[in-house]
Amino acid sequence: MNSHKVLVFTGAGVSAESGISTFRDSGGLWDNYPVELVASPSGWRNNPKLVLEFYNRRRANAAQAQPNPAHIAIAELEKKFDVTVVTQNVDDLHERAGSSRVLHLHGELSKARSCLDENLTYSIGNKPIQLGDKCELDSQLRPHIVWFGEIPFFLDEAKNAFKDAAYVLVVGTSLQVEPAASLVNSAPFKAKKIMVTLEIEHSPKGFELQRGKAGQLVPLICRQWLTRA
Ligand code: APR
Repeated sequence: MNSHKVLVFTGAGVSAESGISTFRDSGGLWDNYPVELVASPSGWRNNPKLVLEFYNRRRANAAQAQPNPAHIAIAELEKKFDVTVVTQNVDDLHERAGSSRVLHLHGELSKARSCLDENLTYSIGNKPIQLGDKCELDSQLRPHIVWFGEIPFFLDEAKNAFKDAAYVLVVGTSLQVEPAASLVNSAPFKAKKIMVTLEIEHSPKGFELQRGKAGQLVPLICRQWLTRA
C-alpha cells in the first residue's frame, strides 16, 4: 500500500448529474432497451443497425454532457496524490475534467474498433458509426464497447491499482456487474475506503457508506483527503 496512491472506482452514478442515464435506476437505459438486443454479441449479429443507432445516440448524448463537480474533484486529487481512475463508464467526462490516468473497463464511446482485431481501435470523437464504415482490414467497424459476455479491459492493471492504494473511493455503482464489481475486494484492509451512492443494499466489506449525490459528497471527501495529505 502506497500512502500517496488513490484509487477511484466509478459507475454510471458519477455521470448522472451530467445528464447521462444510469442503467438500473428507474427509467434507466435497461428499462428502455433490452440488453440482449443492443449490448451483446448476438444482438450485434442479429441487427447491427439497431446496435449502431443505440450507441450513436449515447455517443451524441455523452458529447453534449459536461463534467460535474464529482468528476472535477476527482481530477483535483492529482494535485497531491497519484490517482488511478478505474471506470465502468464509457463516457470521457473523467478525462475532460482533467483526470490523467483513466482505465475504461467497459470500453469508450469515443472509439470504434475492427470486428476482426479488437486491438485495432479508431478515435471517432462524437461521430456516428454507420453500416458500411470499415476498418483497415475491410471489416465493419463496431463500437469499442465491452458487451455482455465479452471480457472487460485492464482487469489486471485495475486489480493491482486497487491493491496499491491507501485511499479507495467508490462512486455511483450498483456493484451488480462482474468481474468489475469484485475489484473492490482487492482494496487493502488498511486503506481508507469510502463508497458514495444513492442507494444500495450492502456496501462492500470495510467501506464507509455515504448515501447522497456524487456532485455534493465527492468534492467534500476529496477536499478532506487533500487537506490531510
Ligand atoms: N450520485 C451518486 N450515486 C448515484 C447517482 C448520483 N447522482 N445517481 C445514481 N447513483 C447510483 C445508484 O444508486 C446506483 O447504485 O449509481 C448506481 C448506478 O448503478 P447502475 O445503473 O447499475 O450503473 P453501474 O453500476 O455503472 O453499471 C455497471 O452495468 O450495464 C452494465 O456496462 C454497464 O458499466 C455498466 C455496468
